[in-house]
Amino acid sequence: MSKALGYKSFGGSDVQEFFSRPDLTPSPVEVLVQVAAAGVNPADHKLRSGEAPDLNGHLPFPQVLGLEAAGTVLAVGAEVTGLAVGDRVTGFALTGAGTYAETTLLLGAATARIPDALPETWAATIPVAGTTALDVLDQLDLPAGSSVLVNGIGGGVGIAVAQIARDRGLVVTGTAGTAKRDLVTSTGASFVDYTGGDVVERLRALAPEGFDAAVDTVGGPSLHEIAGLAKVLVSVGDQSVTELGGATVERRVDRSGLERVAELMVTGRLDPHITATYPLAQADEALALVESKHATGKVVIDLRL
Ligand SMILES: NC(=O)c1ccc[n+]([C@@H]2O[C@H](COP(=O)([O-])OP(=O)(O)OC[C@H]3O[C@@H](n4cnc5c(N)ncnc54)[C@H](OP(=O)(O)O)[C@@H]3O)[C@@H](O)[C@H]2O)c1
Repeated sequence: MSKALGYKSFGGSDVQEFFSRPDLTPSPVEVLVQVAAAGVNPADHKLRSGEAPDLNGHLPFPQVLGLEAAGTVLAVGAEVTGLAVGDRVTGFALTGAGTYAETTLLLGAATARIPDALPETWAATIPVAGTTALDVLDQLDLPAGSSVLVNGIGGGVGIAVAQIARDRGLVVTGTAGTAKRDLVTSTGASFVDYTGGDVVERLRALAPEGFDAAVDTVGGPSLHEIAGLAKVLVSVGDQSVTELGGATVERRVDRSGLERVAELMVTGRLDPHITATYPLAQADEALALVESKHATGKVVIDLRL
């Protein structure tokens, strides 16, 4: 048996509960992993709330929270290549096992070994926020010197976009709340406080000809406000961007993206900025922080605490 945080029906945080689940067995395409750290993401509460039934409406209850984890391989499915028992890995739990748990099942093709120097807490942030940042910048494929606006630069995806963009020679401007000023400027980006009066006018003043591109991580009214400020617009979280002439991020859920982000981290070019770490026993608090929609950088559950 292993401990996990999940839910037996869709709903708010009140449906969450800890329970013990029977030992897991990997399918041919999965690996069984002893979880060292799990990343906490907005998708976790969206799935719990039943907002994405196409993704988890068919799965039995109880469902366990969490889509990404880093840890050590305990067993390898028959069709999985390139991974062995004892490997330190990070990957996606996309077949429903959840990662707010002592053990989980990761998809073999979307799991990668991690460098010795990379802590599991950092590695646990790679599958969701890390590779989303990589994918959106690959999709934009901007030449060095281009200007990019990151709407919501202080969250998990935004802070990764800021650093990978800078690594590519892009000139980054980002919106965030007042408390995130130092974090944002530490990445080399220009900071615009979205709480400080007409944000659109201030952004327009910074880029009178418009930004070459904008990456939106906020969605909703904020996305609509900034939509006219860039030549190309991609949102990572709001499908309605297509009605504004933009595109949603094209996700590639594979091993090579994980390896590329891990390489950026161990070579000092990307820091996930983990600002809150919780033991599994307080995983509900970790998710509440992300559900507040004002987390800074990444929130991680460390199973070794
Ligand atoms: N398509 C995918 O595969 C994929 C992958 C990852 C994430 N996503 C989606 O992308 C979105 C962001 O994810 P995340 O992990 O980065 O979330 P997060 O870590 O929770 O960060 C959200 C950030 O939004 C900022 N924010 C809120 N309102 C804002 C506003 N009006 N202007 C500027 N910033 C604002 C908050 O900062 P302040 O405190 O400063 O407000 C917070 O830092 C979510 O909708 C998520 O579901 C999609």
